[in-house]
Amino acid sequence: MEESARTVLDFSSDVVISLHSWQRRTPLPEELFERAALDPAEFWLRVAHQVIEWIEPPTQSLQWNPPSSGSLPPWVAWFADGKLNVAQNCIDRHVRTWRRNKAAIIWEGEPGDTRVLTYYDLYREVQRCANMLRSLGVSKGDRVTIYLPLIPEAAIAMLACARIGAVHSVVFGGFSAEALRDRINDSQSTVLITADGGWRRGAIVPLKRNADEALRQCPSVRHVVVVQRGVMESDNVPMQEGRDHWWHQLMTHSDVTCPCVPLSSEDPLFILYTSGTTGKPKGQLHTTGGYLTGVTATTQWVFDIADEDVYWCTADVGWITGHSYVVYGPLANGATVVMYEGAPDYPDRDRWWALVEKYGVTIFYTAPTAIRTMMRWGEEYVQRHDVSSLRLLGSVGEPINPEAWMWYFTHVGGRRCPIVDTWWQTETGAIVIAPIPGRTALKPGSATFPLPGYRAVVLDEAGSPVPAGERGYLVLEQPWPSMSRTIWGDPERYVQTYWARYPGKYLTSDAATCDQDGYFWLLGRTDDVLNVAGHRISTMELESVLVEHPAVAEAAVIGRSDAIKGQVPVAFVTVRESHRNELPEIGEELKQYVTERIGAVARPAEVHVVVELPKTRSGKIMRRLLRDIAEGRVLGDTTTLADPAVVEQLKEKYRGEE
Ligand code: WTA
Repeated sequence: MEESARTVLDFSSDVVISLHSWQRRTPLPEELFERAALDPAEFWLRVAHQVIEWIEPPTQSLQWNPPSSGSLPPWVAWFADGKLNVAQNCIDRHVRTWRRNKAAIIWEGEPGDTRVLTYYDLYREVQRCANMLRSLGVSKGDRVTIYLPLIPEAAIAMLACARIGAVHSVVFGGFSAEALRDRINDSQSTVLITADGGWRRGAIVPLKRNADEALRQCPSVRHVVVVQRGVMESDNVPMQEGRDHWWHQLMTHSDVTCPCVPLSSEDPLFILYTSGTTGKPKGQLHTTGGYLTGVTATTQWVFDIADEDVYWCTADVGWITGHSYVVYGPLANGATVVMYEGAPDYPDRDRWWALVEKYGVTIFYTAPTAIRTMMRWGEEYVQRHDVSSLRLLGSVGEPINPEAWMWYFTHVGGRRCPIVDTWWQTETGAIVIAPIPGRTALKPGSATFPLPGYRAVVLDEAGSPVPAGERGYLVLEQPWPSMSRTIWGDPERYVQTYWARYPGKYLTSDAATCDQDGYFWLLGRTDDVLNVAGHRISTMELESVLVEHPAVAEAAVIGRSDAIKGQVPVAFVTVRESHRNELPEIGEELKQYVTERIGAVARPAEVHVVVELPKTRSGKIMRRLLRDIAEGRVLGDTTTLADPAVVEQLKEKYRGEE
């Protein structure tokens, strides 16, 4: 098995933490687990009836034809004869109850401006926005791209699409014009919703400027709606006559009533692009009933959300975590959600803890990279604030090393709060492996067990389960409601990526081990996808961008372990003869080039210019060797190398720069 550079540090199964005095707020009948094990499809149908308000309740649970080469979607349907609307579940059903004026979103901007939207506010804003989209010609099935900072309008726009059956594609605000352009063109969106800009560490993120650049090559977009975040004078925001409209102007003129469109359970809800092993991002298509069932139920099981909670997930809506656990899961549960626009260290390194104190946050969900950063800064920043309102902590995005786990547990959670380490993916839509607080004894560094309704196994190359404690491929053996249904526009790639390796079973592309107690330990990716600070970056995508630079002849990108970010990209390039004189500046220039072409998340930590890349005799780049060099490990077998002198030269080069 191709080893991912990142492995969990010294995982050990002997530390077990049980918090006996910790009480759940939401009930969890034991019967749930028994049913799930007996008949998962029947179990999910029951869950779907319990957690969702259906317009027409489904009688069917799962229909399943395992995808195979050449077969076309749909391969799977959950609750196919059910009808529902996601916005109705996240808003309308709450405004009929005492929750009408309960805070749905407590938002704080980076400069300190705040807004609170109650469920009734959301109800009105979302309907207005839905009518606004309609007036721009959007109807059921049309795609709408959302490129916004983390402001309430992002959630409003998503829910407005859901209300009328339009399909949203949210593009992370940190992505470049080019990345935005490619995602718009792949989804063929007709409307783009963006903002004049956003705030990040005191600086302006120029969203509208990026959008304008992208739109030069996006013929499908007919209208652009611009939210006035107020980062610049509106006179300084160029608006193209006929195409660009201010959000606040259209909203004022939009009618406040827009009934929910009844949708079939399998109607598309959104597309979200994620990196895969090729240069081209994959648009994961999620549908309505199964997705909502998955996120609503797992929010209850794993976060134990109750009405008195104040819940804060620090993810941006541009990622799946923001979709499932900032917007859909918590709002479907009628929760109060905190949203913060900016950086954790602005104006100082205690900003997150100041927010926890200010809003009395009870449930806090973030990424290991953030925890390791806070750990490096030191616990004094947490100690400046009273964070005793916290009762549950979560982690997502990459393996959390036991040391960071213990720091989080001790200094943030005061040794009273369980930590739910949640393993899942853009493709799974909802959490798959995680502790159920109040029930599962925790082992620091382990995501513990699959949730009810999932069957996860660790398999070897041949498809047999590996013995306890051995490393293998993490595989999900049966379909689940919130699974991605296909890759937008490329069904064959969906089959090949996920279902071909072990026919009929879902390949996660993660390595894992299961210990003698049945606890799962996640060990990182097994493919050419890097996990940089919890964000998925494809090495192929980076390489194809690098070779487009006029100076670059060849490029190879690998992930090097990093104490804070988990992994960072390291690029090895060869330079064309004609550009030899640019050598001294080329490293910085290429880092900048990647930032402009993809976004800062993909910026290489190091660029090494080498005379030649190490290749096998058949011409394949030896990535494993590059990783060994980058991490300073003893070199493995290089006998297949075409020119062994290349390694010596590479090692010299690497040492020379340290
Ligand atoms: C990794 C994020 C270990 C994993 C929700 C997966 C994790 C990829 C964990 C998906 C975790 C996510 N422990 N690894 N708790 N959570 N991962 O699509 O490699 O952005 O395949 O979804 O993140 O990243 P994605």
